[in-house]
Amino acid sequence: FGERTLAMIKPDGIVGNHTHFIKTTILASSFTILQEITLQLDRHTAQGFYAEHSSRTFFPDLIDFITSAPVLIMVLDKVSAVSDWRALIGPTDASKAKLTHPHSIRAMCGVNVQRNCVHGSDSTKSAAREISFFFNHTDSGGNVSEH
Ligand code: CMP
Repeated sequence: FGERTLAMIKPDGIVGNHTHFIKTTILASSFTILQEITLQLDRHTAQGFYAEHSSRTFFPDLIDFITSAPVLIMVLDKVSAVSDWRALIGPTDASKAKLTHPHSIRAMCGVNVQRNCVHGSDSTKSAAREISFFFNHTDSGGNVSEH
């Protein structure tokens, strides 16, 4: 085992049928998918997950978007998983990623700064918080913690 990070395929990725491409890209990049679950987030859960952004002007729109359809949440394992997954998904703004990182997942599947197809933890500290937010990782099963 290496390091763990949290990956999420957002509603635009699910609705746009990008799931197979994204998971194939993940596996081809030597990540191991340790856990995965598809969830329809409610507003309370979405607000908790994105709490660090709660004061931003885009927060209400972000909550509308992330609760608009199911999301697929995965725990990825690899040496340097956090930085490798961030590199693979590319810049937050998918419209800019198309110009600067055309082979990134966000460039290929996303649309703009909000509808950017995937999420990735930005640090090992965030990864630990985000993984325990969705998964009970004290056992090996795919249990989702209650909150
Ligand atoms: P993510 O990496 O999941 O982290 C926070 C999310 O908020 C981000 O991807 C985007 O979906 C959204 N976001 C970030 N910045 C903006 C912005 N300036 N305008 C709208 N949405 C944003």
